Amino acid sequence: MENGSVAAIKPPGVTKITFLVMMGVAGCGKSTLGIAVAQALGWSFIEGDDLHPAKNIAKMAGGTPLNDDDRATWLASLREKMDTYRQIGQPAVVACSALKQKYRDMLDGPDLLYVYLRGSKATIRKRLDARAGHFMGPDMLQSQFDILEEPTGALVLDIEKNPQQLIGEILMAIELPNYQVGMVGLGVMGRNLAQNLQNHGWSVIGFDPAIDQAIVPTLRLASSPAELVASLQTPRKVFVMVPAGESVDEAIKGLLPALSAGDVIIDGGNTHFKDTQRRTEELSKQGILLIGSGVSGGESGALHGPSLMPGGNPNAWPLAQSMFESIAAKTSHGEACVSWMGKGGAGHYVKMVHNAIEYAMMQLTAEIYDLLHRGLGTNNTQVAAAFKQWNQGRLHGYLIELTAQVLTKQDPFTGGHLVDVIADQAAQKGTGKWASQDALDLAVAVPILNAGVEARILSANRELRGMLAKAYPNTTNSSNYSPTLDQIEEALYAAFLLAYAQGMEQIRAASSEYGWEINLANAVSVWRAGCIIRADILELLVQALQQPQSDRHLLLAPIIQSTLNSCSSSLRAVVSGGIERSIPMPAFASAIASFDSVRSATLPANLIQAQRDAFGAHTYQRVDIPGTFHSEW
Ligand code: 6PG
Repeated sequence: MENGSVAAIKPPGVTKITFLVMMGVAGCGKSTLGIAVAQALGWSFIEGDDLHPAKNIAKMAGGTPLNDDDRATWLASLREKMDTYRQIGQPAVVACSALKQKYRDMLDGPDLLYVYLRGSKATIRKRLDARAGHFMGPDMLQSQFDILEEPTGALVLDIEKNPQQLIGEILMAIELPNYQVGMVGLGVMGRNLAQNLQNHGWSVIGFDPAIDQAIVPTLRLASSPAELVASLQTPRKVFVMVPAGESVDEAIKGLLPALSAGDVIIDGGNTHFKDTQRRTEELSKQGILLIGSGVSGGESGALHGPSLMPGGNPNAWPLAQSMFESIAAKTSHGEACVSWMGKGGAGHYVKMVHNAIEYAMMQLTAEIYDLLHRGLGTNNTQVAAAFKQWNQGRLHGYLIELTAQVLTKQDPFTGGHLVDVIADQAAQKGTGKWASQDALDLAVAVPILNAGVEARILSANRELRGMLAKAYPNTTNSSNYSPTLDQIEEALYAAFLLAYAQGMEQIRAASSEYGWEINLANAVSVWRAGCIIRADILELLVQALQQPQSDRHLLLAPIIQSTLNSCSSSLRAVVSGGIERSIPMPAFASAIASFDSVRSATLPANLIQAQRDAFGAHTYQRVDIPGTFHSEW
């Protein structure tokens, strides 16, 4: 290799280079070039000269060349430092003269490549003459040439070439991979998203210390965040698919030292929008562009096409848009289910509300299952058949289809239906709760969404429910009103529509409060495929958003008005049927009650105002005379 050929320079058996040692006599440019190479690779830089003990520096400054013993102490320190980098998987470029083979033997390792900067004595002399303040004076140059043993197996570069050319040769020589996307976090969502990217022609490199190569056979794994970053084309794009919260901060912290201004980090977890707001701002101070993106559709969506709700630093979007569009779910018309939601936390906010709607729709379907099954004595197969039939009509959507499917799944242990042996305690990871919390902060009423969260909370305490069931036995009689399947379909349709509308009104309020300018039509459009709440009903909402007055409130859109006017009596009937049978239907009850509230021109809040003024002189307004009043009660 002494001729400097750049092909297959890596020593046999070496799969990964962790250290590039830039070597040569003083003045050959090893530090300057080393720093530039380290920057290009996103690696650390180690200046070998910084590790000389004071006595070596004094000796050289006095014009005496170092002997082998002097150099042995110095090289031992350097070796020690390199070993600490090795232990944490941090690749580095090292500047070290390493003039003799026995010096190089002291540093050598299977992951190290020497880059020998070869130049004529005249050229180097000229450079040294121009260099001031270095302990290595020009007169010592001859002593360096005297002991120089040119290396074998090194990459040999001609220092007459320009630095960019030299950097290019180094990158080629170490066969630095040139991936388009990085994926940090290779749990099922991360690895499926990586596979989806690969399926669409993107080259991906992954990093996850907890994942073995056997689990991701087609994915090249980096051994450290730094190596992952170094392997990416610039501006770099790195997905972070780790659990929301501190893990995201940790993952970003691991990437940051190797990233450069203009690089993009994409957090695709269910992150709280306020964390995304904070991170977007913090990272932008360092020139790093954050995208906080909702990714919906579970593991299958991640693999075959998720619905994507990106937000964050707007400058990141042009760099990531084509990638997002290629991997997103497509509607039947081929439209990609992705749209830029807005700056800061806008994307994660839309995803959070998506999840709150998801909770509400799941609760609504569960209440219908309960009414039909426990209340009306319909068996699982019949309930499944009803959902299957509804899925042929306007209720067509993922959760309706899924409900039909899961209700008839066989249990391998009992041979019965699996759903019958699943404990009735709903878990949650918190996104629905966050949506309710923020709705309260914004003073937006989303009772159906709240009911979805509270029903899960109530279900969780199974033991207490068992005790209370004994304390309060059912006293309802059996001669009660039975809603028909058609009424149930109408009620479910109306309740779904109201749940979506409440979620969208929450997004509207948040957008205005936080200054995001979220386009509601875009949010609804990206939910049409790939995500958990995908359903034909969204087409109705898309239409509604184009209608007059929908910018004031969705329920004012004529198409929603006619739908709800025709379905609301069934909604009432279904809730009555449930209440009469002691079947708890909190989401349906919230649907009809909140609908009745918003469409009631008169509410009993006059009494509340009177009470407030009576006990606390909180004042009130009158309907007939302008101004603020207080009375002696
Ligand atoms: C999605 C889902 C997903 C969520 C699960 C579980 O859109 O793919 O919303 O992001 O994590 O639905 O959420 P819970 O554990 O809170 O039910």
